Amino acid sequence: MGLLEDKSRARLFYKYLSTVYDRINPFIWNEEMRAEALELLDLDAGDRVLDVGCGTGFGTEGLLQYTDDVHGLDQSAHQMAKAFEKFGRTGRVNFYRSDAERLPFAENSFDAVWSSGSIEYWPNPVDALTELRRVVKPGGSVLVVGPNYPSSSVFQRIADAIMLFYDAEEADRMFSEAGFEDVNHVTMGPSYNPEIAITSLARVPE
Ligand SMILES: C[S@@+](CC[C@H](N)C(=O)[O-])C[C@H]1O[C@@H](n2cnc3c(N)ncnc32)[C@H](O)[C@@H]1O
Repeated sequence: MGLLEDKSRARLFYKYLSTVYDRINPFIWNEEMRAEALELLDLDAGDRVLDVGCGTGFGTEGLLQYTDDVHGLDQSAHQMAKAFEKFGRTGRVNFYRSDAERLPFAENSFDAVWSSGSIEYWPNPVDALTELRRVVKPGGSVLVVGPNYPSSSVFQRIADAIMLFYDAEEADRMFSEAGFEDVNHVTMGPSYNPEIAITSLARVPE
């Protein structure tokens, strides 16, 4: 398990990273990638959407282009403080400080669940994916963006020491253990590394 796959360490990490997150983020997770992922999720206006690990609200901002009913959840008070600066604490978005592994919502609460760049910090990704599956309605979708497993063995060793990096096979295993049956993956990334991220879209049967 990587160094940052630990909730309190990830919180400490984001206490400091939150101050520069929005300046660094575009180098690895940019608006073009977000647009590609949003197209896959294919939201309808009025859909109720949960953003798990919303951070400073980069994904949230994209979701708001499609629907006004957006809910953001994160375990880091520092990251959420940055999101509040953009959207207000009680404005257009409903925010919750909570844990991906224990979502504070009833089952079948959302038409779609989005999570970008957060799964790599979850110590028990299958438990959290099971939660995402629980809160999405029948007929809904779950989209998760995470870091693609590097091909070079040197980078693999570094990646494994830091956090969760995974390929399509591992994504299939995690989503299947979490109860999903219909899952597809695409890789995406900036021009200097077009496969840096793996985006999984799971459709939940009616
Ligand atoms: C790389 S940032 C991604 C932020 C945002 N989703 C984006 O697209 O830019 C990862 C976020 O996941 C949050 N996070 C990590 N572990 C979490 C957990 N167990 N529950 C909720 N949020 C978590 C972190 O606090 C951080 O804000």
